[in-house]
Amino acid sequence: MVETSIGIDDIAVYVPHLYLNLNGEFTESRKVDPRKLASLGVSKMGVPDSHEDSVTMAANAALKLIKKNNLSPEEIGRIHVGTETQVDHSKPVGSYVLGCLEKDLGEGSLRHCLVPGDAIFACLGASGALLDTLNWIRAGANDGKAGIVIATDIAKYETHSSGEYTQGAGAVAMLVRENPTLLSIERPVGVCTKDERDFFKPLHRTTPVVDGKYSNRCYLDTMKSAFVDYRAKALRAGLVKLANGEALTDHIEHLAFHQPYPKMTVYAAAFLFRHEWRGLPRWQQIVRQIGYEPGKEHFQTDDEFWTADDQWRRRFTEETDQFKEAFNSKVQSSQEASRIVGNIYTGSMYLGFASMLEYGEHGPFDSVGFGSYGSGCGALAFRGTLQHDHSSVAGSLGLRSMLEQRREVSLEQYGALHEGKANGSIVKPHDEFALVGIGKEGCEEGLRFYEFVK
Ligand code: HMG
Repeated sequence: MVETSIGIDDIAVYVPHLYLNLNGEFTESRKVDPRKLASLGVSKMGVPDSHEDSVTMAANAALKLIKKNNLSPEEIGRIHVGTETQVDHSKPVGSYVLGCLEKDLGEGSLRHCLVPGDAIFACLGASGALLDTLNWIRAGANDGKAGIVIATDIAKYETHSSGEYTQGAGAVAMLVRENPTLLSIERPVGVCTKDERDFFKPLHRTTPVVDGKYSNRCYLDTMKSAFVDYRAKALRAGLVKLANGEALTDHIEHLAFHQPYPKMTVYAAAFLFRHEWRGLPRWQQIVRQIGYEPGKEHFQTDDEFWTADDQWRRRFTEETDQFKEAFNSKVQSSQEASRIVGNIYTGSMYLGFASMLEYGEHGPFDSVGFGSYGSGCGALAFRGTLQHDHSSVAGSLGLRSMLEQRREVSLEQYGALHEGKANGSIVKPHDEFALVGIGKEGCEEGLRFYEFVK
């Protein structure tokens, strides 16, 4: 029996109207070499205005998706939010988002829409929500309705920290249903989960505790392991058949990785291609050109090994045609939006996918591999196929024009917004949901109030 295709029908991105330029004033004040930021791949970062939070960004992305697809409330059976930017210890962001949407769709119109609690696992949250929503449809529990999955986050680090220039904010809403126009998603999912300390946000803090270099290693190790698991499952299911000399990645035309900053996708691709290509004829050519990979057993300490391994990786990525060709065709276009938006945590891989659709070359039935990572830590690897009419969705994303219409803020304005001391909105909200107040006392203490501002 042929399985009904299920996946992402359409996608809508929301980014704040403000951005900070990371060159000039910023690099001077932080005493950071601009060449380092160029190497990491970041040049601007999205900055939320004082009326924006994870709820408004999610609701704005979801409303855009609903309007674009002329969805009536009866057609929406589920709204599942993935976020690590909670606004309450109990009430999910999803319930606030539902309240916002009802302001447009009609009071009580989403009363029978399922809002599972927010999916929280650092940047992995939205991928968990997406896979659950696909399974909700596969199980036939959707009653013919569609699901909306929303990734929404504000990536905020301490000022003057090495995470500061990777900050960003935004939301991605995805319409999930049967016979999707954009991307059908296959069943097998590669999984790797560990109890790690690379990045976490204790309840009393608004910024994370991060071990930056260690977080990169956790990411790479976990991501590779998830792809190894995916490979075994996909081969077992007969979805991928490897001929002699072929690697799994030869069967994936595009790769969207979790992207805390663009350079991380270079590290991820290098780690994955190395693993996949070892033992294949192309590997012999690579070894002849740049020598063997360093072996752990030849080093006294882990740090010495990683330093040597970084040097080898740099030669692999910068000098071999095999890597450059594979990276440029499969990954590069997913970096464009991230360079000027920054990390948007749960949404960053999906922003990378949207970026690939907006800036890259793609054709019907191309396969897209997804490598999602969340600190703490876990990775998920899965594959989808672009559908026959996917270009109608790709052509209507409007990502480029949205990014071009943003307004630059000064370092001083950014500083005030970061500290929560800005005196009102820098750009007055217009045709969007906005945070208009927070209850002060009694039964409304801490309750958040949102309006659609015309
Ligand atoms: P760092 O230690 O400041 O940077 O941290 P670096 O020394 O590793 O340098 C980065 C690159 O810039 C290197 O390139 C340097 O050579 C180059 P490479 O050698 O690797 O190709 N560089 C320069 N190039 C030219 N001129 C110079 C110069 N200086 C350096 N003068 C780090 C970077 C990303 C670790 C830091 O920004 C950080 O801590 N960020 C936050 C954590 C993070 O993003 N981790 C990523 C993995 S974990 C993850 O993705 C999950 C996350 O999204 C959270 C979640 O799941 O919720 C973060």
